[in-house]
Amino acid sequence: MYSRIIGTGSYLPEKVLTNFDLEKMVDTTHDWIVSRSGITERHVAAAGELSSDLAAHASRRAMEMAGVGADDIDLIIVATTTPDQIFPSTACILQDKLGIRQGAAFDVQAVCSGFVYALNTADLYIRGGQARTALVVGAEVLTRLLDWNDRGTCVLFGDGAGAVVLQASDAPGILGAKLHSDGRYRDLLQANARISGGKIEGAPYMFMDGQGVFKFAVKVLSEVVQELLADQGIKDSEIDWLVPHQANIRIIEATAKKVGMDMGRVVLTVGQHGNTSAASIPLALDTAVRDGRIRAGQKILLEAVGGGFAWGAVLVKW
Ligand code: UT7
Repeated sequence: MYSRIIGTGSYLPEKVLTNFDLEKMVDTTHDWIVSRSGITERHVAAAGELSSDLAAHASRRAMEMAGVGADDIDLIIVATTTPDQIFPSTACILQDKLGIRQGAAFDVQAVCSGFVYALNTADLYIRGGQARTALVVGAEVLTRLLDWNDRGTCVLFGDGAGAVVLQASDAPGILGAKLHSDGRYRDLLQANARISGGKIEGAPYMFMDGQGVFKFAVKVLSEVVQELLADQGIKDSEIDWLVPHQANIRIIEATAKKVGMDMGRVVLTVGQHGNTSAASIPLALDTAVRDGRIRAGQKILLEAVGGGFAWGAVLVKW
């Protein structure tokens, strides 16, 4: 028993915030942002628009492509760092919004690696026979965690959602996965706040040691990609498309170089989306599926790293 991706969907909020808009808000320039990150614009959710709202739009599109209805889904996993509320899970809220009345629904919290963690989890549920048709979603309103006075972070992130429908199959779709985490590096990237007695304790904004993240990201991404390819007995030249977490063009380029992938085989959306954390891979995947780059029979490599630190890679046959 295997699992295959049979549909993809994504959604971006209507409002676009360009680098030129940011120039008016904080001490930065369009040229600095493009040269250091590759980002020219990002989308920002409207007031009151929640992760589950973005997730619902993306999920409906993925379900439509897959040709499945609410009665077919028996597992929902939502990867998010920006849940709608403390509890219940965003996955349960999404389940209700989509009119799905059966199966299990839960969230996965692995920050920017959330989608690869969620996809690996859903694959294991299906291969273990505990689910048949899973909705796997990355959805974020990460701009709500930004301090708009901190130019080191506020120019890098955006909001959005992406989803896939994963279904049991006789033929392999998800070929393999490798996940890692190392909590010793948790201070490099964090939002250090909690609720206690009705009050927020700590700092409810994103903090990032940008250079520390950069170095760590390039090292562990190239390692995990090489580990997964060796495990699968596959050469880098056999990969048709690398669909990386869209954090920063320089991290993507450095990782691609280390693993021997030319940039012509890398799907890039960071310029238009910014870093949408757990949503970035399914957003990029859906973009390349719908514009015809990703086609049946191809091998697709997904990789991500983020807060935790947590990182991983998934190899997919389309
Ligand atoms: O999912 C993982 C998420 N995180 C990431 O992907 C971030 C990884 N890190 C990075 O991509 C880079 O470290 C950044 C893009 C965040 C920063 O680039 P950098 O080349 O590492 O810049 P830096 O932090 O060394 O700062 C260089 C200069 C500093 O000024 P001084 O001290 O040299 O005068 C900063 O204050 O750039 C300044 N700076 C800015 N200038 C204009 C920092 N942010 C900005 C800004 N606009 N937005």
